[in-house]
Amino acid sequence: MRTQVVIIGGGPSGLLLSQILHLAGVENVVLERRSQDYVLGRIRAGVLEWGTVEMLRAAGVGARMDREGFVHEGTFLAARNAQFRVDFVQRAGKPVMVYGQTEVTRDLYHARAAAGGLVVHEAEAVTPHGLESEHPWVTYVKAGTEERIDCDYVIGCDGFHGVSRGCIPRTVLRETERVYPFGWLGVLSETPPVSHELIYANHSRGFALCSMRNAHLSRYYLQVPVGDHVENWSDDAFWDELRRRIPHEAAETLVTGPSIEKSIAPLRSYVAEPMRWGRLFLCGDAAHIVPPTGAKGLNLAMSDVHYLSEALIAHYRDNEPGGLDTYSERALARVWKATRFSWWMTTTLHRFEDQGAFGQRIQEAEIDYLAGSPAAQAVMAENYVGLPF
Ligand code: FAD
Ligand code: DHB
Repeated sequence: MRTQVVIIGGGPSGLLLSQILHLAGVENVVLERRSQDYVLGRIRAGVLEWGTVEMLRAAGVGARMDREGFVHEGTFLAARNAQFRVDFVQRAGKPVMVYGQTEVTRDLYHARAAAGGLVVHEAEAVTPHGLESEHPWVTYVKAGTEERIDCDYVIGCDGFHGVSRGCIPRTVLRETERVYPFGWLGVLSETPPVSHELIYANHSRGFALCSMRNAHLSRYYLQVPVGDHVENWSDDAFWDELRRRIPHEAAETLVTGPSIEKSIAPLRSYVAEPMRWGRLFLCGDAAHIVPPTGAKGLNLAMSDVHYLSEALIAHYRDNEPGGLDTYSERALARVWKATRFSWWMTTTLHRFEDQGAFGQRIQEAEIDYLAGSPAAQAVMAENYVGLPF
């Protein structure tokens, strides 16, 4: 079989790229290792930057998001039992949209299926070949049979643990990383959210986040030590700890219930450069990971898709290869700014074991400064709602 672009990975970045290329008449095939149900079972991001919202609308997959998503014009930050609000619209001119990554992915699956797009699920042993040549190809095994697709370009949208990044020779790939000594324990529960907007809470016992999916579905996170296990956390223990870390007023109104999902995610910052090698281009988590504190991971994957789809369409439509040559540089400029912001929010809001009294007071001063300074709030808001593409 032959197509123009093979996309490895059917997560949000792979599916959105596939949809945008399809709308522009660029043929593509998506190869996904897992089943559709498995992909849709992963509970992940919840906050969409406005640029992401506009991309989804332009790709024809915004209707349900616009009906069922929640526009948030600000967020609360809390420390030492007090909270204040940062107004995104006032400080940065844009809101964000609360709409789960699972729903974005579901909408993209429907759109690809409706357009007759080829998304191969349970594709095993996906392997790119000939990436330095003009005629790369990808092999995979489906139901025990090896298949081959010839193409012009291979796009690695296969997440942090995918196969694509490893194709770039060690002599070429530069990796920059920071691993944080804690993780996030996340709980999804069919309870009304404690607050109509998110609460990011700094606390001497550790960070906590109150988020949501809709009026009857809440998402909460607690900072936990690296190496902790969900088995160590009964629902009661989770709720008790959350109540301790958020302002009393919120704790008193918190509605608890059984968890319907509980998982621990490690926190790291990681960037692989360059994001292009020969005919291979990396997109999203395949090239970079940010800690979740600034809600940037999914949104960065989407901005990569913006730059890459623009470049591929210019190449196929106008025979203009320049965008492909500058993709890595353009994407990385934005990636590093989001990496900085996610690191800053993580560092400001989490408890570090070795931070000592000085570190604690500096954090408190940082949060105090943010509470009182419109300029500091503007910097936070501008980054949170998303820097321009
Ligand atoms: P992925 O979603 O990882 O998709 C990659 C796909 O490739 C997967 O479906 C995988 O099965 C497939 N694949 C992997 N290897 C292969 C292979 N060898 N062959 C074929 N297919 C393969 N981001 C935010 O913006 N906001 C948030 O609020 C937020 N919260 C988060 C909370 C948690 C708990 C976690 C874990 C992440 C969060 N993120 C958040 C990050 C966000 O979920 C990711 O950045 C996003 O999923 C990246 O999308 P992607 O398509 O690049 O990669
Ligand atoms: C959610 C996750 C985040 O990392 C974040 O910063 C905000 C919200 C969420 O899952 O709802």
